[in-house]
Amino acid sequence: MLPVLFQPVVRTLALRRIARADRSDGDAARLLSVLEQTIRHVRSPEEAHWIGRIEALRGELRASGKPVAITDYGAGKPGMHLTEEQMRQGRIVRRTVGAVCRDSSKHPFWAFFLFRLIREFKPAVCVELGTALGISGAYQAAALALNGTGRLITLEGAEALATIARENLARLGLDTVTVVPGRFQDTLAGVLAGQPTIDYAFIDGHHDEQATIGYFAQILPQLSRTSVMIFDDIAWTAGMKRAWRTIVGHERLRTVADLGDIGVCLSADGTVPKHQYTIPLG
Ligand SMILES: C[S@@+](CC[C@H](N)C(=O)[O-])C[C@H]1O[C@@H](n2cnc3c(N)ncnc32)[C@H](O)[C@@H]1O
Repeated sequence: MLPVLFQPVVRTLALRRIARADRSDGDAARLLSVLEQTIRHVRSPEEAHWIGRIEALRGELRASGKPVAITDYGAGKPGMHLTEEQMRQGRIVRRTVGAVCRDSSKHPFWAFFLFRLIREFKPAVCVELGTALGISGAYQAAALALNGTGRLITLEGAEALATIARENLARLGLDTVTVVPGRFQDTLAGVLAGQPTIDYAFIDGHHDEQATIGYFAQILPQLSRTSVMIFDDIAWTAGMKRAWRTIVGHERLRTVADLGDIGVCLSADGTVPKHQYTIPLG
């Protein structure tokens, strides 16, 4: 799907909403400014250099006809209604690297949004659920490299994809990333146990209502005071819409923004007034 954000009118409306939005809380204001910078493509020469390298790699991957056999532990496509047991067992899917890249890797706009979030909030420990070929991982890791601090742990169920992602990240010289193969159901608890706190989490795999709520509940106790959580495909199915509504209601999340496909939450203590934004971008 082509993101709606290509339509200038959507961008203009989003910028207008951002300009009028309540900025009374400092962290909420920082999130709004990240969004604005993303829409306006604000980047320094060093940032542009990293993004250029990652996008050149994306171009190669998109064109690749190399076959890859993937064990998919996700929720499939809308309408598939896989049971928990079917998702637990996984399905073997045969594709090409190019097809995986075109269908699964985050669009450059959203990948740049993640990059800007990390540049702004400077998280120390970042977790990603859903690596695929490592494109969003590369954006996030490049932002950490430019910050000069922080590391990323990214989880991927399909061993074949985890291997390709590792190669891609190594080619870019991004060595602060750990790719953890295996189902989130089996790996997330161990990853969390090895970290004192989590400052940033991007949930981009297993778009199932109960699974999404479950991963949120697992990560929540370890969130640092000001942390960032991003959920992909929050409007993908009725179940994902319900999952998002459940998540945004949690009292530890003091700023929540519904951006259409993606939802972003900032945690803080309960004394900070809740800020809720709807800024549809795609
Ligand atoms: C949308 S892709 C991730 C794209 C990546 N974040 C990017 O933008 O470059 C989602 C990935 O999550 C993985 N995944 C889905 N459900 C999973 C599960 N239950 N356990 C482990 N991996 C899972 C899939 O294999 C797939 O590669």
